[in-house]
Amino acid sequence: MTYFKAQKNMNKILFKNIKGLVQCGENINSLVGGVKMAQISTLKNAFLALENSEIVAYGPMEKWEDLADFDVIDAEGKYILPAFCDSHTHSIFAKTREEEFVDRIKGLSYEEIALKGGGILNSARALQGISEDILFEHSKIRIEKIINCGTGALEIKSGYGLNVEAELKMLRVINRLKQHFQIPIRATLLAAHAFPLEYKENHRGYIDLIINKIIPEVQKEQLADYIDVFCERNYFSVEEMEEILSAGINAGLKPKVHVNQFSSFGGIKKACEMKALTVDHLEEITDEDIRVLKNSKTLPVFLPGCSHFLSIPFSNARRFISENIPFALASDFNPGSTPCYNLSTIWSLACIKMKLTPEEALHALTINAAYAMGLQDSHGSISIGKKPGLILTKEIPSLAYIPYSFGENCIERVFI
Ligand code: NIG
Ligand code: FE
Repeated sequence: MTYFKAQKNMNKILFKNIKGLVQCGENINSLVGGVKMAQISTLKNAFLALENSEIVAYGPMEKWEDLADFDVIDAEGKYILPAFCDSHTHSIFAKTREEEFVDRIKGLSYEEIALKGGGILNSARALQGISEDILFEHSKIRIEKIINCGTGALEIKSGYGLNVEAELKMLRVINRLKQHFQIPIRATLLAAHAFPLEYKENHRGYIDLIINKIIPEVQKEQLADYIDVFCERNYFSVEEMEEILSAGINAGLKPKVHVNQFSSFGGIKKACEMKALTVDHLEEITDEDIRVLKNSKTLPVFLPGCSHFLSIPFSNARRFISENIPFALASDFNPGSTPCYNLSTIWSLACIKMKLTPEEALHALTINAAYAMGLQDSHGSISIGKKPGLILTKEIPSLAYIPYSFGENCIERVFI
């Protein structure tokens, strides 16, 4: 399977006989919540014209004309969707961690493995020992696979460096990937992912290192778009998160945070006060958290791949729909808690485990996910002038067949 860059000989493409053109229209809100999530606008038996990746025309087949100079692709029996956006990944790492997976099968918990010096610290040891060039080459192959699964915009975090050089190395790799790929890639500084062993008893020392050394370097080299903190028991407290986010904001970074994965202790409230773009995870949630989110512009992002892989609770997405709070879905792709970057699989999990309908989950993977990366004006829907990237499915009986047939690859081609 290959994805097509809009190359010279293929910069004008006309799809005809499309069974369904999904999430298509000019009046799609940049954020969709509540009962509206159940309605996805789909044009049946349609055509679509793409010029230099930009959507320049679409409509019903009755109005189709054979545009000169366009390469025609017959999409009979197939659907076209805007590419997914993945607003939360840890796609840069030096090695996978299947030995911890086996340890968990045998009975250890994710938190127990981390307390033994495994987990994030395990990834950090490996990443500190690998060169920037090798990390870049490995990451390139991984990102190609991610794009082939239909991801048209990607956020990537640091956080496996945990010292000045290695955090910068990760961010430099992300910046090289930004240059290399045609999809938008956003870089997030997550030095506050865990306390390195040498700072286990000296949290102040590591926070000072982040604030006084790492953030200024990141600002100087313009290496990141966002600042993130893992706010959780045994990781960073609400006060520590506030201090680190403030320093990031002063350096021009927008906050987005990991909160409420295992416990709820005020991280959401603080993140909303600080105008975080997103609050991610939220497997644990209180009535107070809901009240705060209802009154803020901060977008919740749910990560069902992580819940599935760690056997922890799934976020209560249905409650957010009934409270009319929009949300996005993302993969959380990383070697420890979610070794899955395939957003079709995440779509299935959202339907099967979070009881979202296929249409509700698709909003959370397209337009709301674009919002979670500040890309709502160019991505997330099939609208004139947007360049969302496109997914062409195989011949399938219905749109719902994609999340239903979990594990099957329904994507024929991705156009970026
Ligand atoms: O989002 N929660 C913190 N960070 C990652 C896991 C990272 C790892 O285990 O390597 C997450 O699940
Ligand atoms: Fe994460």
